[in-house]
Amino acid sequence: TFVVLENCIRCKFTDCVEVCPVDCFHEGPNFLVIDPDECIDCSLCEPECPANAIVPEDEVPEGQEHMIDLNAELSPQWPVITRKKDPLPDADDWNGKPDKLQYLDK
Ligand code: SF4
Ligand code: F3S
Repeated sequence: TFVVLENCIRCKFTDCVEVCPVDCFHEGPNFLVIDPDECIDCSLCEPECPANAIVPEDEVPEGQEHMIDLNAELSPQWPVITRKKDPLPDADDWNGKPDKLQYLDK
C-alpha cells in the first residue's frame, strides 16, 4: 500500500486524488490519507504530489513509521475525496517544513 506522509499536513495540494483508480484517498481538515485496504499499489499518485508526501509503505523514511498506522486509523473516519480542489492557503509556505504532525487537525 501507499502512505501519505507528514509533509501533506497544512498543504493538501490534492493533485493525488484525481489519478487514483480506486478512489482510496480520504480527506481531513488539513491532511489526506490513503485507505490501505483499498489501495492497489498502482503508484500513479506518487509523482503527482508537489510535496513529495506519498511513498510506498516499504519506503517510508525512518522516523515516519507512525504515518502507516495513522493512514489506516483515519481513513475510515474521513470522507472519500476524488476531485482536486485548491490547496490550503499557505500550502507553498508549509511545503517542506519539519515536524508538521503537531499541526494535524482530526
Ligand atoms: Fe490510489 Fe494507486 Fe495511489 Fe494506491 S497507489 S492510493 S491505488 S493512486
Ligand atoms: Fe497531500 Fe500531496 Fe495529495 S500534499 S493532498 S498528498 S498531492
